[in-house]
Amino acid sequence: MLQTKNISASYRETVVLEEVSFQVEEGEFLGIIGPNGAGKTTLLKIMTGVKSPLTGEVMLDGKDMRSLSRKQIAQIMAVVPQSSFIPPLFTVEDVVMMGRYPHQRSRFTITKEDNEVVKDVIQKIGITLFGSRFINELSGGERQEVIIARALAQKPKVLMLDEPTASLDIKHQMKILGLVKMLVKEDGITAIMVIHDLNLAARFCQRLILLHNCKIHSHGKPEDVLTSQNLKEVYEVDAEVNYNTSIDSLQIVVKE
Ligand SMILES: Nc1ncnc2c1ncn2[C@@H]1O[C@H](COP(=O)(O)OP(=O)(O)O)[C@@H](O)[C@H]1O
Ligand SMILES: [Mg+2]
Repeated sequence: MLQTKNISASYRETVVLEEVSFQVEEGEFLGIIGPNGAGKTTLLKIMTGVKSPLTGEVMLDGKDMRSLSRKQIAQIMAVVPQSSFIPPLFTVEDVVMMGRYPHQRSRFTITKEDNEVVKDVIQKIGITLFGSRFINELSGGERQEVIIARALAQKPKVLMLDEPTASLDIKHQMKILGLVKMLVKEDGITAIMVIHDLNLAARFCQRLILLHNCKIHSHGKPEDVLTSQNLKEVYEVDAEVNYNTSIDSLQIVVKE
């Protein structure tokens, strides 16, 4: 569904990504992890067509990203950015409707289908109760749910998320990631997420890419990537990695 081939990127003279190649299959949930400044957001910007790579290419649904217009990309891919500014005085329904834009022929006509999709998505995410409230009157967790609803209203094949749970409490972290997991499982969406919390990454993602020093340090199943040795090499911490049967996932404890 999405493939990067030998991606390199820089800001002025500073190289921040070198020869990054991987592919993500349809219906997969991939996590991108790595220390601050490792290049995660830059990689996401390249995969969403916001930034051009220095070398290499991105294939989206079999097509070279450079051959697609912004609108064509948005018909395939939706993005939940690290921080998103939404002007106040838009209602939740207005914001979710913005997600329909790539499918609208004209900016000013809202079809029956648009209304139905917006209603369905709002229901699916469980935000029906605050549909008519203003976006600036919601908490951070509620607002994040609305941003995800807007992304889903795009009916994307690929969902890109940059630290979607960064400022959320543990309840909302579980809710948002559970939701993405469900979309992957039930609707066959392909999800690519940048995330800092290694325990959540292990628990929700099927595959992980660990970025370090501009390159892919390791890539594979959570148990192959999140080893004590890799964590030592990349994060310079002593960590214990155990399997927790009650959550059926790895659990990482940093010792020092
Ligand atoms: N717009 C920019 N201009 C110059 N340097 C940047 C810019 N954005 C990011 N960088 C630098 O690129 C590197 C990778 O940043 P980023 O991709 O945001 O990392 P991450 O998301 O993994 O924390 C960092 O060293 C950062 O300082
Ligand atoms: Mg980042």
